[in-house]
Amino acid sequence: ALDDAIATAEKAFAEAGDADTLASIKHLHLGDKAPISLARREIGSLPPAAKADAGKRVNTARQAVTVAYEARAEVLAAEAAQRVLREETVDVTVPVDRRPRGARHPLTLTAERIADFFTAMGYQISEGPEIEPEWFSFDALNIGPDHPARSMMDTFYLDAAGRGAASGLTLRPHTSSVQIHTMLTQEPPIYAVSPGRVYRTDEVDATHSPVFHQTEGIVIDKGITMAHLKGTLDHWAKAMFGVQARTRLRPSYFPFTEPSAEVDVWFAAHRDGPRWIEWGGCGMVNPRVLRACGIDPTIYSGFAFGMGIDRAVMLRHGVTDMRDMFDGDVRFPLALGTEE
Ligand code: PHE
Repeated sequence: ALDDAIATAEKAFAEAGDADTLASIKHLHLGDKAPISLARREIGSLPPAAKADAGKRVNTARQAVTVAYEARAEVLAAEAAQRVLREETVDVTVPVDRRPRGARHPLTLTAERIADFFTAMGYQISEGPEIEPEWFSFDALNIGPDHPARSMMDTFYLDAAGRGAASGLTLRPHTSSVQIHTMLTQEPPIYAVSPGRVYRTDEVDATHSPVFHQTEGIVIDKGITMAHLKGTLDHWAKAMFGVQARTRLRPSYFPFTEPSAEVDVWFAAHRDGPRWIEWGGCGMVNPRVLRACGIDPTIYSGFAFGMGIDRAVMLRHGVTDMRDMFDGDVRFPLALGTEE
């Protein structure tokens, strides 16, 4: 009967698949009511001659069951440890589908490229505030209070102190205001470009955004002519749009330049075939602007130009919807593959 009890216990322990199950059946084989414990209790009623032998056999059996229990417990603990190791293993050799890192925005890259181009020619990069008193956005640029260009610019006004447009504070509608700061604080010769963000009250659609980017440039020196302007624009156009690029000037009007012109660029790689593309505005700095900034127009002359960056980026990269430029999807710059 003891051998049966041992065999039954060993079988039950072997069948326990984990430490908890094993612990829960321990009492059945080693507890007070286990067959071996009952057998031990019966020893008392045996004849004295048989007691010693029976006691020895019961102890041996109990020993055997205890050893079986402990051996199984050890095996299960080792298995559990192995399982934890296996399940928590990190296989560093498995190829990972990494999340895209993102990339710098093509606008940033283009602005840097423009800055590089001009600094290589000895220009400085000027930056200015995006909130400007009207004087910087308009008056100093020969756009007086009643000048029609003032309303044509579709300017955002800050409602400072509840005064609405009477606050006189604008979100700059062009970076021409940066040139005013530069001319007020520096003596000619001045060679400066100002890339930056500008604001106009345009509705958002595929070709418009109330926030966009410009690069304006200004040169003030002795003897500057329109030929210098044209040469600079041609050189820049080739850097931006490829060696085949050329510019053409069409007579136009800006209050801050005289004469003024629209700049078109010949863009050979256009997806609908080579064509002239409107690029920006330019002209010879109006003497009134020079005077407003304390520069003597009888000694100095200069040229200025201003281009939108956003459309140029769209052209270069075949982007058809301006909203893609601003909605912050990291796949956008990645898809363009513009990061150099
Ligand atoms: N400031 C003009 C604009 O925003 C561009 C321009 C700059 C035109 C300089 C002529 C000279 O549209």
